[in-house]
Amino acid sequence: MKILVLHGPNLNMLGVREPEIYGSLTLNDINDSLNRLAGELGIEIECFQSNSEGELVDRIQAAVSRFDGVLINPAAYTHTSVAIRDAIAATALPAVEVHLSNIHSREKFRTKSYIAPVAAGQICGFGADSYLLGLRAIFNHIKK
Ligand code: DQA
Repeated sequence: MKILVLHGPNLNMLGVREPEIYGSLTLNDINDSLNRLAGELGIEIECFQSNSEGELVDRIQAAVSRFDGVLINPAAYTHTSVAIRDAIAATALPAVEVHLSNIHSREKFRTKSYIAPVAAGQICGFGADSYLLGLRAIFNHIKK
């Protein structure tokens, strides 16, 4: 099993970016723990971060027939991107949406996700653990 892990805009700044909201771990720390968990589960992952909506869409399109599923933190594009939503719908790859923070307990504009309706599910509010729970979730979802 091979899972594409996508990180959206500003997640390259984790560790220094609003640590009271997003924690002190860097994106490399998160990718390292995802790789460790992938090893335990006996699966492969590929991690990619971009600040550009188009690059994320390109990666999702290119995932068809190369990956079995997508684990995505669309970051700010969660709340704006019809293009990322359509790309996930177009590929029909199973996707799990994750967020470090609880997007439902913050500003109102963050409660709307364009991605959630085309995802198998959403995990948010558990910091870096959201990603690890998300990887387990997509693994179990695909295995079923
Ligand atoms: C985020 C939540 C989004 O609202 C925000 O724009 C982010 C990060 C999270 O992981 O908590 O950049 O996706």
